[in-house]
Order: sequence, then C-alpha cells, then structure tokens
Amino acid sequence: MLQIWFTRLLFTTSLLALLLILTGSYLRLSDAGLACPDFPTCDGRLFPTDDDIQAWSAMIHRYLTVAFSLLVVSLVIFAERMKSGPRYSWQLRLVLLLTLLQGWLGYLSLSMLLHPAVVTLHLLTAMLILSLLWSVYLNAASKGAIYSERLPRINLRPWVIMAFLLVCVQILLGGFTSSNYASLACPDLPTCQQQWLPEIDFTGIYQLLSGEAIDYQSSQLNNQQSISVHLAHRYSAVVTAVFILFLSLLATRKSTAIYRGAGLWLAFILILQIQLGVANILLLLPLPVALGHTAGASLLLLSLVYLHHLTRRSKVSIYTH
Ligand code: HEM
Repeated sequence: MLQIWFTRLLFTTSLLALLLILTGSYLRLSDAGLACPDFPTCDGRLFPTDDDIQAWSAMIHRYLTVAFSLLVVSLVIFAERMKSGPRYSWQLRLVLLLTLLQGWLGYLSLSMLLHPAVVTLHLLTAMLILSLLWSVYLNAASKGAIYSERLPRINLRPWVIMAFLLVCVQILLGGFTSSNYASLACPDLPTCQQQWLPEIDFTGIYQLLSGEAIDYQSSQLNNQQSISVHLAHRYSAVVTAVFILFLSLLATRKSTAIYRGAGLWLAFILILQIQLGVANILLLLPLPVALGHTAGASLLLLSLVYLHHLTRRSKVSIYTH
C-alpha cells in the first residue's frame, strides 16, 4: 500500500516539475521574469493586485515552487521510512539538492536581472530534476510488476546516455537563444538573413560571462553575435536529430514490442520537436508554439529516461500501479 502511494506521489511531483518548466518558459516568453522584483513577496505583497497578469503569473510560478519543494521533502522522508525506500533514497536526496540549487538560481536570475547564463542554467536544472524524478518513478512503478515478456540483453545504454547528453546540450543552447532574445535573429530557414554561411562571432558570449551588472531585459548582443547564438542551436539540432534517429532505429530493430514502441515514440517526439522549432521561426514565435517546443524538449528527455530504464531490465513488466 505504501509503495502505491509513494509511486503516485512520484508521478504527481514529476507532473508538477513539468508544469513548473512550462510556467517558467511562459514567464520568459511573456517578459514577466521581473514582474515581481522582490522575493519572496511581490512588491511587498503575498498576492498581487487583480489586474496585474504578469505579477500573477510570476507569483503562481512561486506558489507552485513551494508546493513542489514540499512534495520533494515528503518524498525524501517517505523513502527513508519505506522498506524498499533506501533504493531510491540517494536519487531523491539529489533531487532535493538540485531543488535547493534551483531556488538559488531562481533568486539569482532576479538579482542579476535575467542574466542569460543564469536563466539557461535554471532551465537545464529544471530538466535534470524532471528526468531524475521520472527515473525514480519508473523504478518504483515497475516494482512488484507482473512480468510478461523477456527482454534481450542489449547494449543500447551507452547510446541512450550519449543521446541524453546531446539533448542537454541542445537545451542549453535553446535556453541561451531564448534568454539572449536571439530567437528571431535568423528569420529565414535554412539560410540566415539570406546567407548560407553568415559570419560567426562568439565574443559577446565572453562579455556575458564577465559578471558585469547589466540589465538583461533586452538583448546585449549585436546582430552578428545573436546570429551566432541562434545558429549554434540550429546546427547542434542537426547533430542531435541524426543521433536520436539512429538510436530510435536501433531500438525499433529489437525483437520486443516494448523496444519498438519506445523507439517509435522517440522518433515521433523528435520530429514533432523539429517541426515546432521550425514553426517558432517561420511563424515569428507564437506563444503556444514556443511553449510546445519547451514541452517537446522535456518529452524528449523523458523518452530517453524511459529507454534507459528499459535497458536496465532483463524483463518487460506490466505496470501494476
Ligand atoms: C533537436 C531537438 C531540439 C531541442 C531539444 C530543442 C530545445 C529547445 C529549448 C529547451 C529551447 C528553450 C525554450 C525556452 O526558453 O523555454 C529552445 C528554443 C528555441 N529553439 Fe529549439 N530545440 C530543438 C530543435 C530546434 C530546431 C530544429 C529549431 C529550428 C530550426 C529550433 C528553434 C528554436 C528557437 C527559434 C528557439 C527560441 C524560442 C524561444 O525564444 O523560446 N529548435 N529549443
């Protein structure tokens, strides 16, 4: 019984992590990141005035953060007390540690006026928290499961880990594109400002890392630097996409239906993600498309965590919870 409640709590907390990623992305895209410049209150109030939508969205993100942190603490305590808990204990402690780091990064992004490096790290840490929680959830949900089919012992794991790292780099570059306001630096595709090979200039990046106190509510990069940041995300998308397609092909060639399903799902999410990325540019960044692109990045990571989970098991289970 305890195991069932533990699994449900893990699922709920993972969903909340995804919701936090999306509300964080909404704040970034609707320029509401500094709508509440003080912390933890908003202009000295716990609840903003009725008509201030930006302040409300910033505060809702904060309320959800508090709920999320409480859930993570409960999960850590739960795992300590359960018989099979110690199996998950270190992973959940790591989630708690990352959550504390995330709170600090959130605070820093306010005090450093949306510094792109901080905003990007904040996004990546959120993605790592979600992935870790999902991995613990999959392990907990498959405990006590009824085994049906034998899985072949195949060595997909190094490929999955490599794909996970590539997607993390892709997320870093995406977050950096967004937080540097370089999303529309190349409004055409596959060319950029009508050029096939525009000149690349990354000197602006070093300036960004210099730590000077600057207001980052608008771009601090010149046209060429913005193009470079934008193109880094585009080019690395090609490498990531080829690698993931290859991985999904490897998975779908395995004899078990569960691997084939996971491989097809991975390819589907990847293709959707590329379409959303292209639509971001061609439709000039509509909010639902940009949010969909962030959700797609999260789903890509979750699919890879699932594939990794499969490679660690020798049998296919039918989940009982
Ligand atoms: C291969 C998989 C891809 C992943 C995992 C990925 C991931 C991301 C992430 C995490 C962001 C930041 C979103 C945010 O700030 O909330 C982003 C932004 C962006 N991506 Fe991608 N991306 C991928 C492919 C592409 C492709 C193929 C294109 C277009 C050619 C593209 C175009 C963009 C643009 C224009 C932005 C900035 C949008 C914004 O301001 O939110 N992406 N990407």
